[in-house]
Formats: sequence, structure tokens, C-alpha cells
Amino acid sequence: MSITAKNVSFQYETGTPLAIDALQNINFTIKRGEFVGIMGHTGCGKSTLFQLICGLINPTNGTILIDNEDIFKHHQSYRRHKYNYDRKSLRKKLGIVFQYPENQLFETTVEKDVAYGLKHIHMPAAEINNRVQWALEIMGFSYETIRHISPLSLSGGEKRRVAIAGILAIHPDYLLLDEPIAGLDPVMRNHFMELLQKLNQDGMTILMISHNADCISEYTKRLLVLEKGHLIADDSTCHLFSDIDWMESHQLGISQSKLIACELQKRGWNISKNITTYNELLNSLQAAIKNN
Ligand SMILES: Nc1ncnc2c1ncn2[C@@H]1O[C@H](COP(=O)(O)OP(=O)(O)OP(=O)(O)O)[C@@H](O)[C@H]1O
Ligand SMILES: [Mg+2]
Repeated sequence: MSITAKNVSFQYETGTPLAIDALQNINFTIKRGEFVGIMGHTGCGKSTLFQLICGLINPTNGTILIDNEDIFKHHQSYRRHKYNYDRKSLRKKLGIVFQYPENQLFETTVEKDVAYGLKHIHMPAAEINNRVQWALEIMGFSYETIRHISPLSLSGGEKRRVAIAGILAIHPDYLLLDEPIAGLDPVMRNHFMELLQKLNQDGMTILMISHNADCISEYTKRLLVLEKGHLIADDSTCHLFSDIDWMESHQLGISQSKLIACELQKRGWNISKNITTYNELLNSLQAAIKNN
């Protein structure tokens, strides 16, 4: 059970002088249960990759397999075989939170908005109510207070949380998040990252695009790095973040915990060289203080 990108390339404005190679020959397999980060400079192709994985755009070359099924097989073989990938099954399997999800809210109440995707997959009404309540509450809302409010009257961060609730309510096997924490305050951000960790521990596969080095290094186990449409790294997050020079040369940033550890090392503290996360820093500091 996995998501596989097989020799995927994508070009915008093909056949025009404005053609842009957004992705070139991308290959990876993400197995069920992984928590994967995706980083890279603005314009490197991250959002394009997500649109391909959920079948919104067709690759110029190569294909995407979800649970070993080619999601573009209709597109490629249409004339000869007329067989089709079941896109409805994709909707249940794969939840995607787009880069500016707050722009997608359109229903008259928050409750209807969160229920929208569930109605689309023909879930029974009683189950829909339970799911909507669950999703709004785990996103930090009081269900009774928020359910009848118009999404348009909410703040930017609240809209984002409602939009995320609408995707979580589906309980997808694969959750794709494009910059989900931008615009959330630090308390909500931590709460949300803990929630993702819990969902991942319960079996949800998560792919998260983010520029936030702290969240990526703290929570993801594997990191894909894109640069100008190429996949330039696919490795354990811990391994990539331990190479400060490489991370900085690709302008990806390093975690605050790593920065503090480096600063303390420079000042003569006996701190481990392999620190990336907050807990590692804390453990190393406690050991250093104890041995002093
Ligand atoms: N609809 C479009 N038409 C033409 N070119 C596009 C379109 N969408 C994106 N591009 C171009 O494709 C490239 C990849 O864009 P993409 O949105 O995937 O980048 P990104 O990594 O998500 O960037 P960001 O970090 O800013 O969100 C960029 O050069 C962008 O200008
Ligand atoms: Mg983007």
C-alpha cells in the first residue's frame, strides 16, 4: 500500500513560448504509515506535485500509482480500452488540504462546509453528524458554538482550521497538506502538529509541504527536497537536518534546536552533535548539566 511517482514530469503551458518545466523525472514511493515532509524553494514544484498525486492535472510524462493502481490509466489508454481509474475511491482514500484552503469555503454554515466531502462520498447522515462534530472539536472548536456560523465571518486562521476539519472528517488513508501551519498561531500550530502525529501513529500516512524547519524536523521521519522541479534529496529527516552546510546551501533553514545546540557547542558545552529536535536538545542539556 503506497503512493508511487514513476518518472513524473509536468509542464505548464506546453507548446507555447511560456512553457515551464514544473517537475522533471520525479521518482519516489511513500509507504502506508509514513510521515513525510516536502521542502523546497518557492516555485520548485511542491504544489504541482500534490495536484498530480490527487489527479487534478495529468502528468506530461510518467504516472502516479496509488496502492499499486495507475490513477491516470483512463487518460493514457482511453481510446483503446476505455477503462477508467475509480476516482471516487480516490476521494475516500486521499484527503488534500490545499495551500490556501480558506479560499475553498463556500457553504452557508461551518457545519455544511465540513460535511460537504462526506455527502459527496454518500455517507449516512448520522455518521456525517458524528464525523463533523469530531473534526471540528479536534481542530479546537466548540461544535455547538461554531456549527451555524457562516465560514465567511471567521478569521483567516479559523477558516483554515475549518477547511482542515473538512478533510480530516473523511478519515483519509493518505493526508496531503500544503503549507497547513502558515497562518496558525504558535499554540494552534503545536496543537495541530501533535494531532498530525497522533493521526500518523493511528495509521494515517501524511505528506506535508512546509517551509517551517522546526515542524518538519520535529515531526517528520523522511524528507523530500525539491529544487527547480528536480527531486534533489529523499532521505531521513534527521540525516538531512544534521548536515547544516547542505541545508543552508539549499536555503532550507535549520531547526532552532539545532541552532541552539551549535551555539552551545561553540561556547564549550558538552552537547551532542546529532541534535535536530527539541527533545534531543533537552536530553542533551540535562546530561550536560548532570555531568558538570
Ligand atoms: N497555473 C499555472 N500556470 C503556469 N505556470 C504555473 C502555474 N502554477 C504554477 N506554475 C509555475 O510552476 C512552477 C511550480 O509552481 P508550484 O506552485 O508547484 O511551486 P511551489 O513549490 O508550490 O511554490 P510555493 O512554495 O510558492 O507554493 C513555478 O515556476 C510556477 O510559476
Ligand atoms: Mg505551493
